[in-house]
Amino acid sequence: MPVTLTTPRLRLRALTVKDAARLVHLHAEAHVQAWLGTFDLTAASARLERFEQQWAEFGYGMFAVESVDRQFMGRCGFVHWPEMGDSGETEIGWALGSAWVGRGFATEAARACLSWFWARDRTVEKVTAMIAPGNQASVAVAESVGLRHERSDVFRGNPIEVYSVTRKSSFAR
Ligand SMILES: CC(C)(COP(=O)(O)OP(=O)(O)OC[C@H]1O[C@@H](n2cnc3c(N)ncnc32)[C@H](O)[C@@H]1OP(=O)(O)O)[C@@H](O)C(=O)NCCC(=O)NCCS
Repeated sequence: MPVTLTTPRLRLRALTVKDAARLVHLHAEAHVQAWLGTFDLTAASARLERFEQQWAEFGYGMFAVESVDRQFMGRCGFVHWPEMGDSGETEIGWALGSAWVGRGFATEAARACLSWFWARDRTVEKVTAMIAPGNQASVAVAESVGLRHERSDVFRGNPIEVYSVTRKSSFAR
């Protein structure tokens, strides 16, 4: 059953392979490319196939963030990384097109994702964000929705700062 979340200003729906060209365009923008790199259409389609598989396997995954009139704004949602931590970690991530940054949309999307996640998934106790050192815009979103610095780590050879929030700390705020 496809999941759609709504907030006062946003509509979030599962990203699919049909979003490949949108993902390419998003990652071609300088502020996204600087932190997350670019995709060509083939790589974007492969990534989106993995997102679709993850939706099917875990019941959570990456959302497309849209305005209420259905313009594509970016993405926000969850990725499961089996290789992280002791037994895998679930990461929340976000990226918005330049036309949409600086207006609180990323925070609004992330808050909606987390509320939905804690309500639906009773098995995962912690959500992380893997953030490249210096990506203060992303740290600000993470902290706005309750994540706190947990550790410095390495992901695929790159240094990262891991932020996290637990189910318990999320509800204690
Ligand atoms: C990360 C990203 C989604 C944040 O978008 P955004 O539009 O700034 O997010 P919001 O409007 O919700 O702002 C959240 C907070 O970040 C702050 N912020 C924005 N840019 C910032 C910057 N460069 N440095 C410090 N704080 C910043 C905002 O002022 C806001 O603070 P507030 O809570 O006090 O209001 C956007 O910058 C982006 O798409 N970046 C490229 C992709 C990326 O790096 N993704 C994260 C990978 S880990």
